[in-house]
Amino acid sequence: MSSHGDPIPMTARKSGPLKGEAQVPGDKSISHRSLILGAMAVGETKITGLLEGQDVLDTAKAMRAFGAEVTHHGPGEWTVHGVGVGGFAEPEDVIDCGNSGTGVRLIMGAMSTCPISATFTGDASLRSRPMKRITDPIAAFGAKSYGRDGGRLPMTIVGAAEPVPARYVVPMPSAQVKSAALLAGLNAPGETVVIEKEATRDHTERMLAGFGAQVKVEDTDEGRVITLTGQPELQPQTIVVPRDPSSAAFPVCAALIVEGSDVLVPGIGLNPTRAGLFTTLQEMGAELVFENMREEGGEPVADLRARFSDNMQGIEVPPERAPSMIDEYPILSVVAAFAHGKTVMRGVKELRVKESDRIDAMARGLEACGVTIEEDEDTLIVHGMGPGGVPGGATAEARLDHRIAMSFLCGGMASQQPISVDDAGPIATSFPVFEPLMESLGAQLVRSE
Ligand code: S3P
Repeated sequence: MSSHGDPIPMTARKSGPLKGEAQVPGDKSISHRSLILGAMAVGETKITGLLEGQDVLDTAKAMRAFGAEVTHHGPGEWTVHGVGVGGFAEPEDVIDCGNSGTGVRLIMGAMSTCPISATFTGDASLRSRPMKRITDPIAAFGAKSYGRDGGRLPMTIVGAAEPVPARYVVPMPSAQVKSAALLAGLNAPGETVVIEKEATRDHTERMLAGFGAQVKVEDTDEGRVITLTGQPELQPQTIVVPRDPSSAAFPVCAALIVEGSDVLVPGIGLNPTRAGLFTTLQEMGAELVFENMREEGGEPVADLRARFSDNMQGIEVPPERAPSMIDEYPILSVVAAFAHGKTVMRGVKELRVKESDRIDAMARGLEACGVTIEEDEDTLIVHGMGPGGVPGGATAEARLDHRIAMSFLCGGMASQQPISVDDAGPIATSFPVFEPLMESLGAQLVRSE
């Protein structure tokens, strides 16, 4: 089932060369943060290039429920009139974050040091995901939480009336947990210290500094130590959201595996904490070129050109690279199936608690397509069958997971027989224009029965 409405089965067939330019939408992580930080600033934040996927629309709706004025002016153009740090009003109804772990976790963090209560829920995928990783850090600031067994949604958070600053060591590599703790620390007096052992995407730190908060980041033996001074007055910003590298991954990878392809994906955010996939693809021998490297809105940006690559070799992906490509393992495992030799992905157990258990979803779907897979709790190994070597001819379960659906559809553009997904509906959470955009490049996608 899709999160909103009936399932949309879809089939991808072997496609002619993919050619042309792919304008992918705005970055999902930065879009959520633009709305949330905009809502915590005093005055009007202007955003262009906002991703208008369902996940971000749900965050916009939530920010309205907490008292911010969020206005849509035109495609990607939004303003947020913020209520200031600590200024959130108590929502009148349950906050439904749909499919979005980032939305719910960041918002829980942000409201947890305000003297209000809020109840959160989401779709079946989000209701199955662990929230203890958020309720633990926010408890350190004085918030209380009441959820279902196993720390699942629906969950009520009672914000701390008298928040205290905290020192929190993030136990798993998670930008969502780090960000929830930092957003909680915003309304605690004094210094909050958040420590991550492995560097994860740093948009929250960058954007907090941009909004005028005092944030210090140090690399120490303990890890990355982030020190935030609480209760600043955040200054409204003008934000240009770069295009999402995690969405760019789909046209890029499809071009690498579909014979004769040559696709340009302009204006992609290449923050080093997000760009691990592209390094990995280059190590595999992908014909991937970065053109016109530049900086836009404080983030490195480039145009990516991807060409069909018939000599990609499987590699051992360094586990320490995982946080910088955590959302890209599903599409990488499809590329790996079309490479020569074995691709070994270790240190990836966080994939088991994403929108779906992504190790299991990819393993079962690829096996159904004729690919040999090995897996354990923390590892996925794909035995490549070479360009054009994947039989296909199967239907993969999308499991309410946009990236699983898009990964199998890209695979179906290059496999011998078509590949279907049982529900392409979740794609709308992050990449609403996936279908027309891929079709404009030459992909053969059909809505099936
Ligand atoms: C995100 C962090 C990652 C990522 C998600 C977006 C963010 O999740 O998978 O798609 O915007 O902070 P984790 O923090 O759970 O690794």
